[in-house]
Amino acid sequence: MKVLLTGGAGYIGSHTCIELLNAGHEAVIVDNYSNSKPEALNRIREISGKDFTFYEADCCDKTAVEKIFAENKIDAVIHFAGLKAVGESVQIPLAYYRNNLDSTLTLLEVMPKYGCNKFVFSSSATVYGVPKEVPLVEGMPTGCTSPYGWTKYMIEQILTDASVANPDLSVVLLRYFNPIGAHESGRIGEDPNGIPNNLMPFITQVAIGKRPELGVFGNDYPTPDGTCVRDYIHVVDLAIGHVKAIEFADKNKGTEIFNLGTGIGYSVLDVIHAFEKANNLKLNYSFKPRRAGDVPECYANAEKALKGLGWKAERNLEDMCRDSWNWQKNNPNGLN
Ligand code: NAD
Ligand code: UFG
Repeated sequence: MKVLLTGGAGYIGSHTCIELLNAGHEAVIVDNYSNSKPEALNRIREISGKDFTFYEADCCDKTAVEKIFAENKIDAVIHFAGLKAVGESVQIPLAYYRNNLDSTLTLLEVMPKYGCNKFVFSSSATVYGVPKEVPLVEGMPTGCTSPYGWTKYMIEQILTDASVANPDLSVVLLRYFNPIGAHESGRIGEDPNGIPNNLMPFITQVAIGKRPELGVFGNDYPTPDGTCVRDYIHVVDLAIGHVKAIEFADKNKGTEIFNLGTGIGYSVLDVIHAFEKANNLKLNYSFKPRRAGDVPECYANAEKALKGLGWKAERNLEDMCRDSWNWQKNNPNGLN
């Protein structure tokens, strides 16, 4: 299939592009570089040994999106493009609603004109809100705690409604848990701007000496060691999940939701210790107050993805820690 990856220069999109090319699909990427760099595209070509078409454009720009569909026979869209910082979304909610919703609506309006009816969406475990029980199963209640989360929630609803109205449309909603790790080559990985919000990029920046210490947000949660528990998933496993998802969309109509997680919860201290062990180094950290909005435990029941997509995560926490560090130490300044 020829697949349009919106936001394909970003962290998850770039890893997915490689797996799609490896699986024999063709790729077209559109990105406005609001949170990525052109060098990511060179690295995708280098790792895969394959080429793809690229457009520098905003997915909210309907004329630009029409041009992409007019110039390429796109079979499926994987919509990664979006703003994703939870804290920032509280500060500038309108920018989040505008960008994330408008880009989705624009794609949905243009696709049918060009006979494209397969849509895979980057949703998030954040749509489960404050979980009442774990592991999380796809049918459990949803609700969000940030404008970012609400954009995912609303887009899930928009896509579901669109697939009801258009019986030809296939929608796959992928609820990612916590993607970390990097390509094993060490040539692409997560490259956050400024001070990282997320745990693993913060850990690698402490390890490389860019930041003096890691603050562990809260050690009085009702969890085995008092720190929050999450379902960390290797970004390459996540990327492979997308290849399975477009193949699923090719054979099924309507909307289907899949958790993409490992099904295993690890605490912040588990991650710190695994990182130290996998890379044979010591991390400077101390306990800090809880971070607003964090839930104690969030991990997936990953059985539906196994049954429906024939997919399960193969890489373990040690692999994630090793590959994250390999990426950071080989690229101390990211893709700059
Ligand atoms: P990322 O920021 O690395 O990638 C997103 C890409 O989209 C960037 O390259 C950015 O430049 C581009 N982009 C943003 N708005 C655009 C627009 N209007 N037009 C064109 N390009 C645009 O983020 P990521 O971690 O790769 O996440 C990809 C998707 O997965 C996002 O939708 C994110 O919300 C979702 N997600 C990420 C995580 C995570 O922890 N990384 C977890 C759950 C869901
Ligand atoms: N943490 C620290 N110190 C840090 C950064 C994080 O202790 O410097 C802790 C957090 O408190 C949390 C855990 O590490 O307990 C994981 O935090 P992340 O920020 O890496 O990930 P979150 O689980 O908070 O967020 C992720 C995605 C969001 C998504 C959310 C939904 O990054 O996009 O899951 O659950 F909305």
